[in-house]
Amino acid sequence: MTSEDPGHLAFWARPEAERAAVFAALRRRDGLPWVPFTNRAPFTPSRDGFHAVVRHADVVAASRDSRLFGSAPNAASLYDIPPWLLRYLDSMISKDGPEHARLRKVVARAFSPRMLARLESDIRTRSTRIVDDVLAERSGEFVSRVAQRLPVAVICALLGLDDSHHDLVARHGNTLVGSNDPEHNGVSRAYLLHHGAPGVRHLFPLSARLAFAGEQLHRLVRRIGRERLREPRDDLVSTLVHADVDGERLTPREVGTLFILLVLAGSETTRATICHALRLLTDHPEQREHLLADVPGRIGGAVEEVVRHASPVLQFRRTATADGELAGTPVRAGDKLLLFYTSANCDEAVFADPDRFDITRSPNPHLGFGGPGPHYCLGAALARTESTILLTELLTRAPTIRAVGPPDRLLSDFLNGVKRQAYAL
Ligand code: HEM
Repeated sequence: MTSEDPGHLAFWARPEAERAAVFAALRRRDGLPWVPFTNRAPFTPSRDGFHAVVRHADVVAASRDSRLFGSAPNAASLYDIPPWLLRYLDSMISKDGPEHARLRKVVARAFSPRMLARLESDIRTRSTRIVDDVLAERSGEFVSRVAQRLPVAVICALLGLDDSHHDLVARHGNTLVGSNDPEHNGVSRAYLLHHGAPGVRHLFPLSARLAFAGEQLHRLVRRIGRERLREPRDDLVSTLVHADVDGERLTPREVGTLFILLVLAGSETTRATICHALRLLTDHPEQREHLLADVPGRIGGAVEEVVRHASPVLQFRRTATADGELAGTPVRAGDKLLLFYTSANCDEAVFADPDRFDITRSPNPHLGFGGPGPHYCLGAALARTESTILLTELLTRAPTIRAVGPPDRLLSDFLNGVKRQAYAL
C-alpha cells in the first residue's frame, strides 16, 4: 500500500495531474479525511496517521487558530523527529506562543525595508551575472547554473557569509531538505516507493548523513558567530549573536537552528519557484507570449501564479494542542494535521479553473507562503523580489530560454523541488 495516499512517498512520485486528481477527490469529501500511515517510517507509531486539511478555507482556519493547532513539536515533518536530529532543526517554525514570538521578533529585524532595499541592488548585480553566463553557455543545467545560484547567494549575503561558502551551504541544505530522496538519503528508490519511507534499518546511516549536514552548518555559524561577537557587521549573524530580546540573549543553539532554518527556507523554496517558472512558461507558450509583451507590467502576476500553481512547499504540519474541531471533524489533542497548500491552491471554491496556469489571475489569494497567522512566511517579500528580478533579467535578455525535457524531480512529501532541469536558448 499505496500510492493513493499522501502519507506514502510513492504518492509523491506520481505525475502531478494524478496527485491533483486525488486531492480534488479529497476536497469533495465532508470534513477532514483521515490518512493512516501505510509506510514503514521508523519514527512513527504504527497506528498513527494524520488529518488531511485540503480545502482553502480549512487551511486558512487552521493557520489562524495557532493556539489549537500548534506548530510544536515540529511543523516541517510528518514524522516525529528524534531529539538528536531536532537539535539542528528545532527552530521558530516549530514553536508556539511567546517562544515563537520572541525568536520571530529577532529575525524580523533582518527583513526590514532598509535591509531588503540593500539586498535588492545585490540581487540585480547577481542576476545580471547569472544571465551573462546563460547567454554565453546557451544550454546546460538550469538548477545549478541559474535557479539555485541566486537564492543561495542572497541568503548567504543576508546572513553575512562570503561567496566561498555557497557550495557548502547548498550541499548541506540539499541534504537536510531532500532527506526523502534517494540521492540524499542513500536508500534505493525501489525501497522508498515500495515501503513509502526509509525503514528502521536505514536509521543509522540516514541519521549519520543528516547529523553530519546539520553539524557542518552549526560549526560554520559558530565560527562566524564568534567573529561577529568580536567585530559586529551589518548582517544577520551579527544581529543574532548580539540580539537582546527583553534582556535575554539567544543561546548558541538558538542561533544555530535559526541559521539552519533560514538557509533551508531561504534557498530551496525560491530555487524551486524559479525552476517551475521556466517549466510552466515552456509548457504554456501563450502565457509566455503574453508575459513577453510586457515583462515589467506582468511579471508580478506571473510569479504569484507560479507559486500558486507549483506550491513549492507542499504542506506544513500542525499538532492539536487540545480536543477541538475543524471542518466539522472532531480533532483530539495530539492529532497530526497536514495543511496541504498544494491542494488549497487548487480549490475550485476559490480559484476558477484551478488547473489552468494563468498569469493574469486576479485576485490570486494563494496560500503558497502559508495561511494567515503567526507563521506566515517571513521571507515572502524577499522571495518575490528575487524571483521577479531574476526572471525579468532572464526573459528580457534571453527571451527564447526554455526547459528541455522533463525535470528531474525531488522525491519529497514536503517540497515540490527540482534537482535538475535541462535548458536551452
Ligand atoms: C517561494 C519561496 C518561498 C515559499 C513558497 C515559502 C513558503 C513558506 C511557508 C508555506 C511557510 C509557512 C510555514 C507554516 O505556516 O508553518 C513559510 C515560513 C517561513 N519562511 Fe518561507 N517560503 C519561501 C521563501 C522564503 C525565504 C526566501 C525565506 C528567508 C530568507 C523564508 C523564510 C521563512 C521563515 C523564517 C519561515 C518561518 C516563519 C515562522 O515560523 O514564523 N521563506 N515559508
